[in-house]
Amino acid sequence: MGKAIVYTALVIVCLGIGLIVGGLGVYYGRPYYEPQPQSIQIIKAKCYPMANGGGPSIEGEISLSQTSNKHLVINALIDGLPKKELGFHIHSFGVVNNNCSSAGGHFNPEGKNHGGPNSMERHMGDLGNIDASKFPHKEVEITDKKASLFGKDSIIGRSIVIHEDTDDLKNQSSAGGRLACCTIIRVD
Ligand SMILES: *[C@@H]1O[C@H](CO)[C@@H](O)[C@H](O)[C@H]1NC(C)=O
Ligand SMILES: *[C@@H]1O[C@H](CO)[C@@H](O)[C@H](O)[C@H]1NC(C)=O
Repeated sequence: MGKAIVYTALVIVCLGIGLIVGGLGVYYGRPYYEPQPQSIQIIKAKCYPMANGGGPSIEGEISLSQTSNKHLVINALIDGLPKKELGFHIHSFGVVNNNCSSAGGHFNPEGKNHGGPNSMERHMGDLGNIDASKFPHKEVEITDKKASLFGKDSIIGRSIVIHEDTDDLKNQSSAGGRLACCTIIRVD
């Protein structure tokens, strides 16, 4: 009688130890996975500026590119522009029939006031000016930390408008009328 209890207790203790050792073996024996870095994505887009209303007087190419964890990079090479700093902005809509008015106002999903690219307060589309005095022989590169090809406020399908005058980065009207424009289209 007493022996039976001792044997039963021994069997239970042995089974318990077996389970613990087995469990630890399974736990430490599982394959170890390196944590994967978040996958990096690149989006590329193009925009081919045309004179407001159409016609051959202005032509060129604007390339936009962005890596998911980096800032938007814009490279432009455009012929036919006056050789000075010209307001350069993202506007809300794509362009219809080369009519730069159809682009709507500055892209401004956050409802901010107009500013320059480095202002605390700015429209998302406020890229400042492009130095058109470099054209047609030299490309101009612009990097922007706010406008993006990613996410819900992506600028794809919107437009770039080049103005006839210099944006003073305070008064939106300082940039004057719309000289050229194009729709931003994804190309990758
Ligand atoms: C250009 O677009 C604007 C705004 O959509 C519109 O009011 C105007 O009539 C258009 N002009 C032409 C010539 O289509
Ligand atoms: C903004 O600029 C326009 C065009 O140069 C000018 O007519 C207007 O008076 C300016 N507004 C302010 C508040 O300076």
